[in-house]
Amino acid sequence: MKQTLAFLLIATFVYACGSSDTPEETSGAQQATTATSQADGKKIYKQYCVTCHGLYGDMGASGAFNLTTSELPVADRIVVITKGRGAMTPFENLLDADEIAAVAEYTLELKK
Ligand code: HEC
Repeated sequence: MKQTLAFLLIATFVYACGSSDTPEETSGAQQATTATSQADGKKIYKQYCVTCHGLYGDMGASGAFNLTTSELPVADRIVVITKGRGAMTPFENLLDADEIAAVAEYTLELKK
């Protein structure tokens, strides 16, 4: 009888240890989701915007606006990036709304 009890205790202990792995896996998956849903404005800028605006925003290729002196509020930047303006290409088919907002925020950092 005592042996059965001991076995039950060990079984419970092993089960408890085994199940403690599960929350870790879940939080790992959650972290991965957060990483992909948070758009990286700097990365997007380097990928799509440097060709005209340059790494620091002041290159001005093909008449690109100098982003270090731009006073445009972030909401208007989102419109310019989404719809394009003049020689600037629209990005609505290349980036989703989150990514456009993130890169618009990033352009504010280029201001001196
Ligand atoms: C094909 C070259 C080109 C690319 C690529 C480009 N731009 Fe532009 N951008 C321009 C030009 C040209 C203007 C000025 C438009 C005008 O004359 O009305 C401009 C204007 C802007 C403005 C408005 C600034 C102001 O104060 O009016 C913002 C903000 C901007 N670009 C951000 C970006 C971002 C962010 C990206 C990358 C997602 C990007 N641009 C990619 C050429 C480009």
